[in-house]
Amino acid sequence: MSAEKLEKIFLSLTIFMLIVFLGALFWASFGLGMHLPDRVGQIDPTQVRTTAPFDNPGVFRVGENEYEVVALGFAWAFQPREIRVPAGAKVTFIATALDVIHGFHVEGTKVNFMMIPGQIARVEAVFARPGEHLLICHEYCGAGHHLMYGTVIVEEADWTPEDPDAPDEEPDTPPVAPDATPDGEVGA
Ligand code: CUA
Repeated sequence: MSAEKLEKIFLSLTIFMLIVFLGALFWASFGLGMHLPDRVGQIDPTQVRTTAPFDNPGVFRVGENEYEVVALGFAWAFQPREIRVPAGAKVTFIATALDVIHGFHVEGTKVNFMMIPGQIARVEAVFARPGEHLLICHEYCGAGHHLMYGTVIVEEADWTPEDPDAPDEEPDTPPVAPDATPDGEVGA
């Protein structure tokens, strides 16, 4: 076989492979809908707890069938730990990390991104069927990495939170004690 012919074969193979790889890329992003999380901004990683919206993590109903999940990752937990949304709703995750890089992966779904200190990640998802998913950290983040998990509960499509304004995770505040007698006087 002449050298020219061999060269032609190699060139054709190379072009063919390039087309296949490009095709795989387009198929993954347009066909399967795989995307990197949108990078929506930077915040001071030391001020996360006092920077909106991360000063109030939780699950919020923001529209007719729309939910927003403001999530924090830190060694070694997620906040909120339990996320409850109805099937078919548009759910937007807005997340960052407090200390080191963590992962946010909702098992059995395409929700999978990194939580990076100071960087805000934004990912949209729709959970089609009711069910329970494990939420796991998939970036090694230290001794308690394997303990860092949460739950995503997908309720029936007609489910709504009782109080749409209340953050899901807030523990009930204890009843406020009645005002003490003025000047510390004890009733006679
Ligand atoms: Cu957080 Cu691993």
